[in-house]
Amino acid sequence: MMRAIQGMSLLITGGGTGIGAGTAAYFVKHGARVTICGRRADRIQATAKALGPACHAVVADITVASDRERLMNEAVTHGGGLDALVNTAADMLRGPISELREDDLLKVFHTNVVAAMMLTGLAVPHLEQRKGAVVLFGSVHTRRAYPGASPYAATKGALETLTKVIAAEVGGKLIRVNCVVPGAVPTDLNIRAGLFTEEEHNKRMDAIAPYHVLGRVGTPEEIAEAVDYCIRAEWFTGQSIVIDGGLSLGLSPF
Ligand SMILES: NC(=O)c1ccc[n+]([C@@H]2O[C@H](COP(=O)([O-])OP(=O)(O)OC[C@H]3O[C@@H](n4cnc5c(N)ncnc54)[C@H](OP(=O)(O)O)[C@@H]3O)[C@@H](O)[C@H]2O)c1
Repeated sequence: MMRAIQGMSLLITGGGTGIGAGTAAYFVKHGARVTICGRRADRIQATAKALGPACHAVVADITVASDRERLMNEAVTHGGGLDALVNTAADMLRGPISELREDDLLKVFHTNVVAAMMLTGLAVPHLEQRKGAVVLFGSVHTRRAYPGASPYAATKGALETLTKVIAAEVGGKLIRVNCVVPGAVPTDLNIRAGLFTEEEHNKRMDAIAPYHVLGRVGTPEEIAEAVDYCIRAEWFTGQSIVIDGGLSLGLSPF
């Protein structure tokens, strides 16, 4: 039985841009109340303004414990409870294995993995009251090996493993935990990390498009449809749902 979106309360970390913003727009359009967060006030406030009063923006850094607590409280107040935590926020880190700096590695694990775990822990008492859901975000980087992307790929592998363990742990409370694994979607993720200019990023997206079986990169809204299934499907838990236009199939010209 799929639940109705109307009246749901969602907390979407990283909801000011990219896939998180697309997911916020999708759920607001279908009648949910959504709280989004990010460190850049201008980005989340612009997104919330465009979505109207159903979307509440909180300037917060999810690696800071007091920010996480404030964020959770504001989400529960704004939505009148919590039906879903969508852990979209993440940072990218690439580099050759021999040149990685330990503090950079710890930082990306803090943002992508540790903060998502801590927020999930904070969400459990609220989700238990609504038999709600947690969504974690993996990546095609766990299905295809991109040289130089070991830090980011490792965080995403951790999240896929956590999906199963946390699902088993909170299943008795009827909380569902799943992982959305997207293919390439044009966003600022790599640009924010200072890895590519916008022009270089656009060229990379054009170059990777033919490696998707469906011949193109995805959109935030298409990823939101997978998030939607994870949140509303009542007998679905502990799974990774790959939505990637067939990129992970490893299309070969021969
Ligand atoms: N785009 C793709 O091709 C792709 C493919 C596979 C998986 N994914 C995953 O999809 C998710 C969304 O990424 P995206 O592509 O949409 O990139 P994005 O637009 O850069 O979104 C990531 C968001 O996370 C926020 N964020 C990062 N660190 C944060 C922190 N410490 N506290 C609060 N917010 C933080 C960023 O905002 P601030 O910088 O303002 O804090 C940003 O809005 C990520 O989990 C990513 O790994 C993306």
